[in-house]
Amino acid sequence: MNTAQDNIHQQMATLLLQWYAQNKRMLPFRTNSTPYRVWVSEIMLQQTRIAAAMDHYNRFMEQLPTVQDLADCPEEKLLKLWEGLGYYSRARNLQKAAKVMVEQYGGELPADYKALLSLPGIGEYTAGAIASISFGLPVAAVDGNVLRVFARLYDDHRDILRPDTKKAFTQRVLDCMPKDRPGDFNEALMDLGAMVCVPNGAPQCLACPLAEICQGFEKGTAIELPVKTPPKARKVQQMTVLLVQTPEGKYLLEKRPEEGLLAGLWQPLLLEGALTMEQAKQYLQSKGLEVSFSKEGASAKHIFSHIEWHMKSFCFRATDSEVNLPLVWADKTELEQEYSLPNAFKVYKRQMLKESIF
Ligand code: ADE
Repeated sequence: MNTAQDNIHQQMATLLLQWYAQNKRMLPFRTNSTPYRVWVSEIMLQQTRIAAAMDHYNRFMEQLPTVQDLADCPEEKLLKLWEGLGYYSRARNLQKAAKVMVEQYGGELPADYKALLSLPGIGEYTAGAIASISFGLPVAAVDGNVLRVFARLYDDHRDILRPDTKKAFTQRVLDCMPKDRPGDFNEALMDLGAMVCVPNGAPQCLACPLAEICQGFEKGTAIELPVKTPPKARKVQQMTVLLVQTPEGKYLLEKRPEEGLLAGLWQPLLLEGALTMEQAKQYLQSKGLEVSFSKEGASAKHIFSHIEWHMKSFCFRATDSEVNLPLVWADKTELEQEYSLPNAFKVYKRQMLKESIF
């Protein structure tokens, strides 16, 4: 091994943990880090920023304080607790895994990396985080933050989205990890990646505890690392949202199919394509709804990982006629407390709760 790499292996953990002792973020799942609390936090933080997730996290823990509570939770309540966080399959997988824990592990998380990895929704990163933080097991937890830190630290220009790069970086994390403090080491790396070795060409190298051993800093390449192949362009889909309100202020909602995008969640009527007002009206009439056009509503855009919805909307008035599932009429209280609408419809939900569309 060359001297630069030797230096990194020998000094990295000491420098990082000294910095962590003074800069560690106070987070709710760190003050009381039971395996259950750590697991739920890691799942919530997978696609959501810490600041955006903490209210949800605290509410979730209040309502479902144990694995058993999660396993027993009615689905609509679970989805309501997740409302606004997106990627709802995370919530469903949490519950599936909780049921396995109740059936096979006495309502506890298994203290074993492989057993954790076999549970629904738990991949290598999450299994590593739970195993190291909650059980003190010496395993890595490699996410995008950690890949970025290590690409810069070793001035490594390989594409971090390639599985072989991730494997090589995981080995380096293990080479640097002090085996008596794996959890602190992994969490210190996460904090460094979030606070100092930040993405988008803006590393705070002058504030970095690793600057003296960082090859990317020495060579001036940190700013351009990590190397990532750009993702494929997202497909744009035109959509039409129909806000249908009765004179009593109830809105028409439909339940999405149980499989696929936003499975099982609720939405105002949604049609593929950019419909004209007349086409939208005909569609409603085909469902047996007598409506009159009220006005054009807001436009909105929602970006998923692989697809982009460009939505326009029309508002209609209707009589409170009989509808069958997947359609329901919901008043404002039900809209707020019962039905989980994904973030994609945030603009429309706000409109339905705050305003009359007449
Ligand atoms: N992001 C995901 N998990 C985290 C953790 N345990 N600490 C800090 N940031 C995180």
